[in-house]
Amino acid sequence: MSLLEIKNLEIRFNTDAGVVHAVNGINLTIEEGESFGLVGETGAGKTTTALAILNLLQSPPAEIVSGEIIYKGQDILKLSKNKLRELRGEEISMIFQDPMTSLNPVMTIGEQIMEAVKYHSGKSAADAQLRMLEMLEKVRIPAERSYDYPHQFSGGMKQRVVIAEALAANPALLLADEPTTALDVTIQAQVLDMISSLQKENKTAMLLITHDLGVVAETCKRAAIMYAGEIVEMGTVEQIFDDTAHPYTKGLFNSIPSLDKKTDRLMPIRGLMPDPMDLPKGCKFCPRCPYADELCITECPPVKDLGDGHLCKCHHADKGAPLYFPDEKGNELAYEHGLPVSNPGNDFLGKGDGPDGE
Ligand SMILES: Nc1ncnc2c1ncn2[C@@H]1O[C@H](COP(=O)(O)OP(=O)(O)OP(=O)(O)O)[C@@H](O)[C@H]1O
Ligand code: SF4
Ligand SMILES: [Mg+2]
Repeated sequence: MSLLEIKNLEIRFNTDAGVVHAVNGINLTIEEGESFGLVGETGAGKTTTALAILNLLQSPPAEIVSGEIIYKGQDILKLSKNKLRELRGEEISMIFQDPMTSLNPVMTIGEQIMEAVKYHSGKSAADAQLRMLEMLEKVRIPAERSYDYPHQFSGGMKQRVVIAEALAANPALLLADEPTTALDVTIQAQVLDMISSLQKENKTAMLLITHDLGVVAETCKRAAIMYAGEIVEMGTVEQIFDDTAHPYTKGLFNSIPSLDKKTDRLMPIRGLMPDPMDLPKGCKFCPRCPYADELCITECPPVKDLGDGHLCKCHHADKGAPLYFPDEKGNELAYEHGLPVSNPGNDFLGKGDGPDGE
């Protein structure tokens, strides 16, 4: 049995402006001790998925339309408030996307970590203090700083405090939502190393949310690529990096510099993610995909297993070619903003935002 299994999860936000289709039927599993990366651009539905795992979505406006989130055999979405309280922090903890706001400004950082330990593990005050000091040492913050308040720390140190707090009760699953985005590049690597080593030491599984494929390559064993509330590709890091199948994932790789490939310019994916209140009927990536055809416009693609658990949600994933962009000839003249200017069977490219060229 997997530690966590998300089945067919669909979440929407019912707002005055309309219905936001944030998560559209995702499936994923995380095994004990495993590091799993969830990658996607802004608005893809990553944070909404993580908040659902802790059953923290505020309803209204959030509505879980369907699905199950099975943790150690129990559906989190059906747990009582008391059981949920036990689960949060003790079994599953989260590093929030903006760590600066998750610390209490009027408590010293020592008090905050101790409170997390006492609350979740029921340890005595003396034991909680020992654990707090142990965690501070692990994240390389001197013990005497435990009497300081959050505003007395730098961004990188605050982030390390948040990590210490999240891991203090030894959870089985850590949800890390963009844990390094707010930090500068030199500190990012240190913080990631710290999370990884603490996670390995305690055999904690991790769902690492990021928009950075490099971070996934460094930290994770498996990963899923999320687009417009769907998982479009999932597999081991090797499958996703060495045998990339989905046009969107290929586009992501083409948008980042590579040390191995000599390129004159990067090839960003043209356009924006579709409006989550008005998603395309067929494939959600259709308006931006250079391989879209009639089938893609009219029918939502099924998830295909390309072998050994490498999953891809694309009508043409198993055809081999043509799923390379740019094309292998590297004919730059045929490209505009990284996409072919003309593409048979794909008249709408370049004519507008939607499949109908509206
Ligand atoms: N409380 C809310 N009310 C209405 N819409 C929401 C709410 N929370 C999120 N959304 C919408 O749901 C979609 C998914 O948002 P989510 O925060 O999960 O994205 P994300 O992948 O975490 O993006 P980012 O990388 O920017 O953090 C977005 O369109 C967002 O605007
Ligand atoms: S289903 Fe069609 S539009 Fe969607 S990613 Fe695959 S080829 Fe592109
Ligand atoms: Mg987010």
